[in-house]
Amino acid sequence: MSKTPIIGSSPEVEAKVASFMSERLLHDSLSDCITLIGSMRLSGVHHRKKARGMLISGPSGVGKSTIAERLLELSPRREEVDRTIVPVLYVELSGQPTAKVIGSNLLEALGDPHSESGSAEDRLFRAAELMRACGVELIILDEFHHIANLDPRKREIALDTIKNLMNKTFIPILLLGANSSKAIVRANPELSRRCTPKIQLEPFSTEDAEHLHDFRRLLKAFHELLPTTGPSALIDASNTGPLYQACHGLIGQLSQLLEMALKATLYGKSQTLSQEALRWAFERTVYPGCKRHRNPFDAKFDGKPLVGSGEPFHDMHA
Ligand SMILES: Nc1ncnc2c1ncn2[C@@H]1O[C@H](COP(=O)(O)OP(=O)(O)OP(=O)(O)O)[C@@H](O)[C@H]1O
Ligand SMILES: [Mg+2]
Repeated sequence: MSKTPIIGSSPEVEAKVASFMSERLLHDSLSDCITLIGSMRLSGVHHRKKARGMLISGPSGVGKSTIAERLLELSPRREEVDRTIVPVLYVELSGQPTAKVIGSNLLEALGDPHSESGSAEDRLFRAAELMRACGVELIILDEFHHIANLDPRKREIALDTIKNLMNKTFIPILLLGANSSKAIVRANPELSRRCTPKIQLEPFSTEDAEHLHDFRRLLKAFHELLPTTGPSALIDASNTGPLYQACHGLIGQLSQLLEMALKATLYGKSQTLSQEALRWAFERTVYPGCKRHRNPFDAKFDGKPLVGSGEPFHDMHA
């Protein structure tokens, strides 16, 4: 491949890349979460009268929303003669999720055309009624950490709103959010008590043989999804370290890197996703403008983690 691959606009190449990007790998932590959530949901169906919740937190790109995506795939909406059944209700909380906004976020997800009208109490009452009518068995509130954007008084009311929703509907609630979500939930002991377990999703790691094995398995699974026929740098053991450094174990960063490297490969008319394609893609996606000694795929890489100030993984534990 030349040093600067020409990225063009071939519908065929773009379709191949889009298809690669739309695949989801059922790795261990994803399937463990799906199993736990499935059990909480079933408990809610068979034994009502108990408020149930779960918090899953983790850094950006660790795969939280993908859990929701998978749950929605497994239990899609379906039309019945007189109503729409919504087994899993997915709601992305707005940037300022006051009680009133949470009410309208829920109503909107349920398809209510008047989601913006009424007081907070009225919206939540209507949402609870609609949830019952639609057979909702699990509510997912994604971007839960947005609650921290509210001033303390509104934040407390918003947390109480979620707790009351659990108490009134007995529908289990899954909260998904950044690491800061744990502290937000703990600030409201009643909500915190209802949200067990609290799961912290960790990025992949290479710290010991078992984790290294899991990360290599992930790379192999991505390799198998590639629309190319040749070997790839993903299954070359000498690239495991650089690939780990380049994404810090975050599947979101890894897939972004692979998307660009795959484009470079296909536009370069190659059947082998090479280390050079990764090097090129890294400085265009993960760390724009990085110096050669900070690119894990460059021969000049100094080997230090990319966690310095201004580097891609500086703030990932926030
Ligand atoms: N299991 C998977 N298989 C393949 N790709 C995945 C998987 N999980 C995540 N990804 C890729 O990583 C991207 C980021 O994942 P996701 O949106 O779930 O992260 P997140 O933790 O919700 O991040 P944020 O906190 O920024 O919302 C996805 O868009 C997808 O491209
Ligand atoms: Mg997300």
